[in-house]
Amino acid sequence: MYVDNGIPAAAPADAGHPAPELAGPPLLAVQDLTLERGGNAVLDRVTLSLGAGRTLGLLGESGAGKSTLAMALIGLLQAPEVRMQGSMRFDGEELVGLPEKRFQTLRGRRIGLVFQDASAALDPCFTIGDQVCEPLRRHLRLDRRQAIERAVELLDSVGIPDARTRLAAYPHQLSGGMQQRVMISIALACNPELLIADEPTSALDVTIQAQIMELILTRVRALGSSAIFVLHDLALASQVCDDIAVMYAGQIVETGPARAVLGHPLHPYTVGLRRCVVELDAVRLEPLAGTVPGAADMPAGCRFATRCPHVRPRCAAERPPLVQREGRSLACWEIDRLLAAASEGVAA
Ligand SMILES: Nc1ncnc2c1ncn2[C@@H]1O[C@H](COP(=O)(O)OP(=O)(O)OP(=O)(O)O)[C@@H](O)[C@H]1O
Ligand SMILES: [Mg+2]
Repeated sequence: MYVDNGIPAAAPADAGHPAPELAGPPLLAVQDLTLERGGNAVLDRVTLSLGAGRTLGLLGESGAGKSTLAMALIGLLQAPEVRMQGSMRFDGEELVGLPEKRFQTLRGRRIGLVFQDASAALDPCFTIGDQVCEPLRRHLRLDRRQAIERAVELLDSVGIPDARTRLAAYPHQLSGGMQQRVMISIALACNPELLIADEPTSALDVTIQAQIMELILTRVRALGSSAIFVLHDLALASQVCDDIAVMYAGQIVETGPARAVLGHPLHPYTVGLRRCVVELDAVRLEPLAGTVPGAADMPAGCRFATRCPHVRPRCAAERPPLVQREGRSLACWEIDRLLAAASEGVAA
């Protein structure tokens, strides 16, 4: 059941799909990942997991660290540019400290990538055919003819009309939506087990955003792959994601099944984020009060403490651990009070 803004209506705190850890060993397990850039912890002890065949929505305000996490997962942020501590395991293999040569065997082969802006991701100097064939030849060792045939199939499967003719086109000869489809076909060319899509539709016209999202989801499901979607749109996240991880200023504040986290948010930040959603009739818009603290003023404890309506003296000083309750994880010192209030059906 959905309310007007497309987000599932409030459900009991324990409702929703089984937590990923109950559905088999995770394909991806991030544990206490801290990433420092220029002396600032842009990611602060991030912990999340993703089961095989599941979709995870990464949500949070601008600057929360969503793209940083996505880039770190695919090895595009490495020492000495950044300093990382903690662990990111993909199918059991540790990615923190993994040599670039090894990352090259994962990136585009076992982990596919879709970025926000296809016009920046596609190389303007090479034809569509060259760019779709490249991973097929490099990772799957197809010969030129085989790669061309497979490229035509791939472009066709992402809804590019007259695919064979398009092989000779350069990116600038295609519309933004068509370029995005090409990038999706490249990302999925080698049937990756994990797709990471960072705001895959936000550079596109609203009219084709839904089509592209549907396309990605259909292809991911057909492959039985897992996906991480970095999204700003909570309604979209509730429709396409099994699980949600909410980030605030580099920290994970709440994770769990989408239906529970978005239908019945518990962390004060998730509650605020949900309230910020502009409803279709644009009658209600309650922005979160305050702004994200600057890197130099970041509280040592909970980074949301400066904006939290439930703040206590300990919050800014001591970092709340991410603890599991009622099928989700929450980082908040007030967790018990919030849960008690939720079970009584009153606002904390
Ligand atoms: N190239 C960079 N050099 C230094 N700091 C950066 C760089 N890119 C991002 N940051 C900082 O890292 C933090 C996280 O940024 P990031 O881009 O990961 O956020 P985001 O959640 O993806 O935001 P958005 O929703 O706007 O895409 C921000 O404080 C940002 O200013
Ligand atoms: Mg980003």
